[in-house]
Amino acid sequence: EENNSSKTQNKYREIISTLPRDNGGYTTTGSKLFDNLCCYQGFWYHSNSLEGVMLAQEHFKAQPSDILVCSAPKSGTTWLKALTFAIVTRTHFNDSSNPLVTTLPHECLPSLDQKLHNRNPEFPLLATHTPYTSLPKSITSELGCKIVYMCRDPKDAFVSTWHFARKLPIYGQEPISLEAAFELFCKGVSFFGPYWDHVLGYWKASLEWPERVMFIKYEDMMRDTVLYVKRLAEFMGYPFSSEEEREGAVEKIIELCSFENLSNLEVNKNGMRPPRSLVAENNAFFRKGKVGDWQNHLTTEMAERLNQITDQMLGRSGLRF
Ligand code: A3P
Repeated sequence: EENNSSKTQNKYREIISTLPRDNGGYTTTGSKLFDNLCCYQGFWYHSNSLEGVMLAQEHFKAQPSDILVCSAPKSGTTWLKALTFAIVTRTHFNDSSNPLVTTLPHECLPSLDQKLHNRNPEFPLLATHTPYTSLPKSITSELGCKIVYMCRDPKDAFVSTWHFARKLPIYGQEPISLEAAFELFCKGVSFFGPYWDHVLGYWKASLEWPERVMFIKYEDMMRDTVLYVKRLAEFMGYPFSSEEEREGAVEKIIELCSFENLSNLEVNKNGMRPPRSLVAENNAFFRKGKVGDWQNHLTTEMAERLNQITDQMLGRSGLRF
């Protein structure tokens, strides 16, 4: 079996080595992180994350009970993972025994594409950044599973991405400048980007299969957390009973998963990620957790340019930020 898996790995590596790497003409950002992106099925990936995507495409068999937690990076993944985990596991743990108290939310959910056959037998959640059109067919076909997706105003997603990229200790390189990262982002060159195509893939799927794909905006979740947490629970098949609502179960979950609570937990302040991951420190996932922080980083021109691209890309899809 080991032989087989190294054969498969070689096969994927061979494909990856032939993929386009011309970062939209920005191959000399001086940042190996960005210069290592390659384009697969219309999206940009860090080559390290692609093998898992290919493996899942070829072998993952969705079960109807699976719930796939999806997002573009820096769009509220950590929050969505915490919320879905807290909702689904709420009868298994009390306030202090919940794994979220001692574990980075990313470690609470198995990843669709990191290892196969690693479903948690107790909880049906799996997570991924893979764009909708590149998900394994067994997920998106008629008999697939439920999907929840979170996205965010592209301006905030970009600013969050830039800050995050600067925390990646990759190859001890000079971190990329805001301007260089901005040019790339506008051209669609970002992790799992073009950002707009990522969002649109899931948006269209949510229109086509509303009972299968739930589309959430970070901004909406911030504005009316109670409403959206209830909807999320209902959608996943874990609705709050009226008794639970009376007892404040919704508010408890919101509090547990809040930026203030999670970012102040010892594990998220000082914990380290497992060696396989790109980023070293758990606290890289908790920066500000606010809507509209782009105003502190982007010039008026930059914001206008992103707005224009967003308007153009979203077109008549019905989606607005
Ligand atoms: P900022 O960089 O704008 O602060 P992801 O989880 O997809 O990597 O996205 C990270 C963004 O979500 C960061 O945004 C981070 O601060 C914010 N975030 C992390 N945990 C959060 C939480 N519990 N509630 C709200 N936002 C959170």
